Amino acid sequence: MSKYADVQQYLGGHRGHWLVTGAAGFIGSHLVEALLRLGQRVTALDNFATGYRRNLELALAGAGAGAAANFTFIEGDIRNPADCARAVAGADYVLHQAALGSVSRSISDPQATNDVNVSGFLNMLAAARDARVKRIVYAASSSTYGDHPDLPKVEDTIGNPMSPYAVTKYVNELYADVFGRCYGTDSIGLRYFNVFGPRQDPDGAYAAVIPQWIAALIRNEPLFINGDGETSRDFCFIDNVVQANLLAALATDPAAANQVYNVALNARTSLNALHAMLRDLLVERFPHVAGHLPEHKPFRAGDVRHSQADIAKAERLLGFAPTHRIDEGLREAMNWYVASLVGNKS
Ligand SMILES: NC(=O)c1ccc[n+]([C@@H]2O[C@H](COP(=O)([O-])OP(=O)(O)OC[C@H]3O[C@@H](n4cnc5c(N)ncnc54)[C@H](O)[C@@H]3O)[C@@H](O)[C@H]2O)c1
Repeated sequence: MSKYADVQQYLGGHRGHWLVTGAAGFIGSHLVEALLRLGQRVTALDNFATGYRRNLELALAGAGAGAAANFTFIEGDIRNPADCARAVAGADYVLHQAALGSVSRSISDPQATNDVNVSGFLNMLAAARDARVKRIVYAASSSTYGDHPDLPKVEDTIGNPMSPYAVTKYVNELYADVFGRCYGTDSIGLRYFNVFGPRQDPDGAYAAVIPQWIAALIRNEPLFINGDGETSRDFCFIDNVVQANLLAALATDPAAANQVYNVALNARTSLNALHAMLRDLLVERFPHVAGHLPEHKPFRAGDVRHSQADIAKAERLLGFAPTHRIDEGLREAMNWYVASLVGNKS
């Protein structure tokens, strides 16, 4: 039996109280759904900066009958310490996802990203410490590898940050580590690498590449690649991220605590290859995408050239075993995007 199956079985028989921050966002809403499915009690915190009420509704609907009775939503802001304290009251575990994502947003407005991702993070960490939660698991980022050229990326070897966003995510790790040393706060950081899946927002200036491109292909709109398209990423399906969070929260090995872990596949897909994969997946339902070619723009400031995760540490200390490769994840996500973008016309 896998470690994840063990953890799910354990949770099925033990009801814990979880705080999920950023719960109305893409990743947070999947965490809420998974926990409610397992009969857990969930408090959710979000200010709807980039998240949506409909994500919470979908999470509750996905979790099935009776889930709403175990669910409490608090509309609040992690920049406000009182909101953090209110949300964390009585929680056993915190899964901290609230942040302003996007490298380019942080280049346009570094102060806003810092306020949420650094000051807000510190508020949440202090609130978790004061509430004596068992563990806070937080969303770190592969952007912390910065300009270091080594592939695959190993947790202890990082370079210089290439964007304000990357600085904020690295500062999170430094604060979590120092809280462990100064106050004994138990934390685990998960460095996500390009997560994708249903409910990831396809619209807006800061949309992630996969939902943005799926929407552009379906809508027959122009699609842009920054650079030559040989930039590569370790794209990680949402189910793998949910698994990593639950494993991290419940890891009992003392060596596993107060560490950071890569969360991805140890695989690399270029943007050109990704474009071809999406086109091939869509062509049967949308014949107009056959032969579609992207338009190339200059390389974008702050973008890392290649990204690929060594996941040996998460495998060893957390029992992480990803269930979905990129092609499997894309197939699942595609059904959702087609349904949500074109409704029953699909
Ligand atoms: N999606 C990825 O590929 C990826 C990669 C690396 C790290 N991450 C990190 O994972 C986390 C979740 O990302 P996501 O893709 O689900 O993004 P998302 O934008 O969908 O979710 C973030 C959520 O946080 C909420 N939020 C923002 N500011 C807040 C505030 N001040 N107070 C309360 N809530 C606030 C937003 O409203 C949103 O619901 C973030 O910390 C992000 O930096 C994501």
